Amino acid sequence: MKITIIGSGGREHTLAWKFAQTLTWENVFTIPGNGGIPNSHFVDTNNFTEIETFCKKNEIDLIFVGPEQPLANGIVNFFEDKDIKVFGPDKEAAKLEASKIFAKQFMQKYGVATADFQIFNNIEDAKNIIEEKNGNLVIKFDGLAAGKGVFVCSSVNEANSALQELEKIYGKNVNFLIEDKISGDEISIIGFTDGNTIKLLQTSQDHKQLLDGDKGPNTGGMGAYSPVPGIIKKLIQKINDKIVSPTLKGIKAENFNYKGVIYFGIMVKNNEAYLLEYNVRFGDPETEVLLPALKNDLYEIVNACLSGELKNINFEFEEDYFADVVLVSGGYPKKYNKGYVINGLENISENTLIFHAGTKTEAGVMLTNGGRVLNVTGRGKTLNKALDNAYKEVNKIYFKKMFFREDIGKRVNKYLKK
Ligand code: GLY
Repeated sequence: MKITIIGSGGREHTLAWKFAQTLTWENVFTIPGNGGIPNSHFVDTNNFTEIETFCKKNEIDLIFVGPEQPLANGIVNFFEDKDIKVFGPDKEAAKLEASKIFAKQFMQKYGVATADFQIFNNIEDAKNIIEEKNGNLVIKFDGLAAGKGVFVCSSVNEANSALQELEKIYGKNVNFLIEDKISGDEISIIGFTDGNTIKLLQTSQDHKQLLDGDKGPNTGGMGAYSPVPGIIKKLIQKINDKIVSPTLKGIKAENFNYKGVIYFGIMVKNNEAYLLEYNVRFGDPETEVLLPALKNDLYEIVNACLSGELKNINFEFEEDYFADVVLVSGGYPKKYNKGYVINGLENISENTLIFHAGTKTEAGVMLTNGGRVLNVTGRGKTLNKALDNAYKEVNKIYFKKMFFREDIGKRVNKYLKK
């Protein structure tokens, strides 16, 4: 059995590491991968024919897609009549992430708890609602925008600037939606589906803003921890009843070809849970704390999904907490330099996991090669212990202009008091 993972981030390094535990590294390929993932190969992952050639040459049985774009572009459909299995939803089902309008209409149709919304297809029509709601709303571009299509606004000025931004990129006749703003605690719940069953991993929480105290610009994620203790634990039944079950009902009713990962981005407010968004893939950096906690063989789970037998698998988890601190290059998420030497990786303790993201090797030297450079995942009997273990190792690593948040996991104190 040989598998190819598509992608180049910390999520893909974690996936490869997890698969390699049972398949061994020589059977786990990653395209294009990065400097820290063994068996990385450069392939243009937007070119499905090139992927097919690579897979045939290396006798690959299964492709696991890390990011959303190949799924939205129809990689599952492309390989449908070929001898290589692809784990993920087909193009139609991937619209749950690729089209925010499609996703909201799906949620509404199947009674998934979510914020009220209105759909627009030109900028002018949205002006009234912005005044009515005093700009206190969320504006979402319909398509994939690499995290740059969602504007959470608190004033008319902010909302108008968001519209200007949309118009600048996509023109006046852009498809977007406006939804009520629900302010609370955002958590990620990620699971697997075979189209008939959804089984969830543990809860996790991402830290999207660049700076401590959830300040600064949005990033691809500055850290994560799992599981989320306190109040969130008590909400699981509600989340199942109001979000997960109706979603599954919808997947079945629409007859989606969906054998893959499903990600629920959830906002918790006053003991109620609302679905903000679906993603049709693993989250990053959530994967870096979820998969180390999963005891099951990942290859077995994926195969159970592909053969429609997910119901027969029981997930088992480590009792420990896991915490991930993301090390980024100074300037990220805007302009940053690449090519700085990374020092200290040889001193990392055996109990800490390092998952590479923006790295490459040149002449045997590890260099930075992206904005998000490394993930440092610690574990411990308590969340604080997991965080201490991660930060202790972070302090052993150095590259020029290295930056990280110092308050990953600190929101938890607030949940425990509720
Ligand atoms: N951590 C958020 C995402 O992967 O979309």
